[in-house]
Amino acid sequence: MHPTLAYLEANKERFLNELLDLLRIPSISADPAFKADVLRTADFVAQKLTEAGADKVEICPTAGYPIVYGEKIIDPALPTVLVYGHYDVQPSVPDELWTTPAFEPNIRNERIYARGACDDKGQMYMHVKAFEAMLKTNTLACNIKFMIEGEEEVGSNNLGKFCIANKERLKADVVLISDTSMIANDIPSIDVGLRGLSYVEVEVTGPNRDLHSGVYGGAVANPINILAKMIASMHDENNHITIPGFYNDVLEVSAEDRAAMAATPFDIEEYKQDLQVGDVWGEKGFSTLERTGIRPTLDVNGIWGGYTGEGAKTVLPSKAYAKISMRLVPNQTSEKATKLFEDYFKKIAPPSVKVEVRPHHGGEPVLTPTDSIPFKAASLAMEATFGKKPIPTRGGGSIPIVALFEKELGLKSVLMGFGLDIDALHSPNESYGLFNYYKGIETIPHFFKNFGEMGR
Ligand code: BES
Ligand code: MN
Ligand code: MN
Repeated sequence: MHPTLAYLEANKERFLNELLDLLRIPSISADPAFKADVLRTADFVAQKLTEAGADKVEICPTAGYPIVYGEKIIDPALPTVLVYGHYDVQPSVPDELWTTPAFEPNIRNERIYARGACDDKGQMYMHVKAFEAMLKTNTLACNIKFMIEGEEEVGSNNLGKFCIANKERLKADVVLISDTSMIANDIPSIDVGLRGLSYVEVEVTGPNRDLHSGVYGGAVANPINILAKMIASMHDENNHITIPGFYNDVLEVSAEDRAAMAATPFDIEEYKQDLQVGDVWGEKGFSTLERTGIRPTLDVNGIWGGYTGEGAKTVLPSKAYAKISMRLVPNQTSEKATKLFEDYFKKIAPPSVKVEVRPHHGGEPVLTPTDSIPFKAASLAMEATFGKKPIPTRGGGSIPIVALFEKELGLKSVLMGFGLDIDALHSPNESYGLFNYYKGIETIPHFFKNFGEMGR
């Protein structure tokens, strides 16, 4: 038995209780009302890194929420792993849909239910505990640096600057991240791709004030009707995005890679069952895994305007709004996608309305290598603890900072995530399996051992 596994077995309950404590702090980065809690979470992480044995632990201030740094340099001749994770979480709303409150972690059916249970507190904390286990059993085989941020869920706006300003301190050979999912507990996989993101907010203005929908209805453009039509027109009958030039930079995936994707175990019936949908939806000519893995999207994330209160108020609204995200794939860029969207949105707006497009955060897509030493170290680590070689997969989500690690620090990342689709990230009743939490803590030391032995 790997000594860290014995250590894990002996400390299981404490490892769990510490995570539950972390989950009790509502570190919602999007909502300023939780500022004190987010800051408290940074303190918590720093404290735990120190207790685990990290040196030079520091809560590094930024223009937004702080970045927690810590390191253990055991031998400058050994390779160095930079562990990245985030301690902030998504908002818990709508709270009434949670079976138990989002920030009162509850364990049922061998799962921890809480906001952040998987994304990313549970997964990030596995690294802190695996580090403790390696240090206490004297088996840490690489130097390690932790960089845990508090703004991932709001676009990591200050992390890029931090990286540029701390190039020397962040010197490493690879970035190790657990913030993605696997196929199933008995089908391990490693994400080798993440989508990029362009996020915009649009405002459509009709008349200068809300109007009586009887007196004016039919004679003045209703901005909500217009917005709905504009949005609907952005997909054609094949669910292909109609923005001119939108697909120009989309990398054609080779027949070989598509065949590999088709061979990836995926149960569409289970998928539909989990989501309670009668059928899947998407771009013609592509499978569900391809639609999330290798194709870009355009989705309304929220839409509002007019009267939404109790009962009926007959009103022809002055304004309509929507938040729209575009998921991007190699070699699209968020800047270009945003520009194409903006130009097209303005072009299709009829003269009866005025439109405004306000870009939010963006992020670039990434592909991580599968023929690299760190990837092999991760693959062998999972193979050792799952008893099966992990399958490389393309995740649909985004971690915008991964592309920046490459650009600013010259570092590739390994996305060794332990979540599952059923973890309900960003949804009510987010959860994380106890199996996954412990399996992560068991697997991470194998990565360090392998990478330490295989070298850079
Ligand atoms: N951990 C997720 C991303 C993820 C989840 C990737 C599952 C692959 C599989 C991350 O915390 C996240 O939610 N990212 C945001 C980025 C945005 C807020 C800039 C996303 O993808 O919406
Ligand atoms: Mn995450
Ligand atoms: Mn997230």
